Amino acid sequence: MTTMRAQDHGLPNLGFGLGLRPQYYPDILDGDPPVDWFEAITENYLVAGGPPLRQLERIAERWPVVLHGVSLSICGSDPLDADYLAQVKALAARIGPRWISDHLCWSRHDGVQLHDLLPIPFNEETLRHVAARVRQVQDMLGRRILLENVSSYVEWSGSTMTEWDFLAALAEQADCLLLLDVNNVYVSARNHGFDADAFLNGIPLGRVAQIHLAGHSDQGDLIVDTHDAPVADPVFALYARALRRFGPVSTMIERDDNFPPFAELLDELGRVRQVAAETCGEMAA
Ligand SMILES: [Fe+2]
Repeated sequence: MTTMRAQDHGLPNLGFGLGLRPQYYPDILDGDPPVDWFEAITENYLVAGGPPLRQLERIAERWPVVLHGVSLSICGSDPLDADYLAQVKALAARIGPRWISDHLCWSRHDGVQLHDLLPIPFNEETLRHVAARVRQVQDMLGRRILLENVSSYVEWSGSTMTEWDFLAALAEQADCLLLLDVNNVYVSARNHGFDADAFLNGIPLGRVAQIHLAGHSDQGDLIVDTHDAPVADPVFALYARALRRFGPVSTMIERDDNFPPFAELLDELGRVRQVAAETCGEMAA
């Protein structure tokens, strides 16, 4: 096991960003919003040409952009989709993303693409399987990728390790990086009754290069990762604790439904900046 420091992943801290959603193109391109960077959903721009790609190119000329995929199915048992990866590589060559990420999940089986990000059992067998596939993807793309922890509502009886131990071992074995979704940690911790801080403390330093924040729906005994509301207070509190462990990390808000006026998202991003400034200020003091 190598010993790493928080920033040893080698990727820059881009500051505070937003998930790029088409309804906000005019607010972004016709204004000069105080957003440090944008995360684009990879699959929205894989067609070579057309208006969406042109918009992304214009945004990438002015802001740092990263690519975030939803269909890699890195944990699946279908062979990796070489055509898809070639398209991602071509898009990256065109846009120049600072990095490329996807989810630690499976979303395709027997050639059928599912529209869910499904969890896997966390054990040695799936670890070997996923680590080998991550190395394959990284070889094909010619760069390290970031994988994101997904929210989950059920657990596999075949799991023999915690999610955080699995992520730590995967990062080490595949030499990949991690996208820590703090809302997903909170959602899964509540749904499964584990300690969200144990999750954070189990993730090794030097691997977390990006953080996601998002809203969820709290239905009491079930929390659903809906991305249709502002980031909840307990998630902000967990974010502050994540920053204390991992140091300043590129952070962004994902919003995918019930879209507010762009100004409201900017206000919410201002709160993220404030929490980070207070936390990192305390750390420096
Ligand atoms: Fe996320």
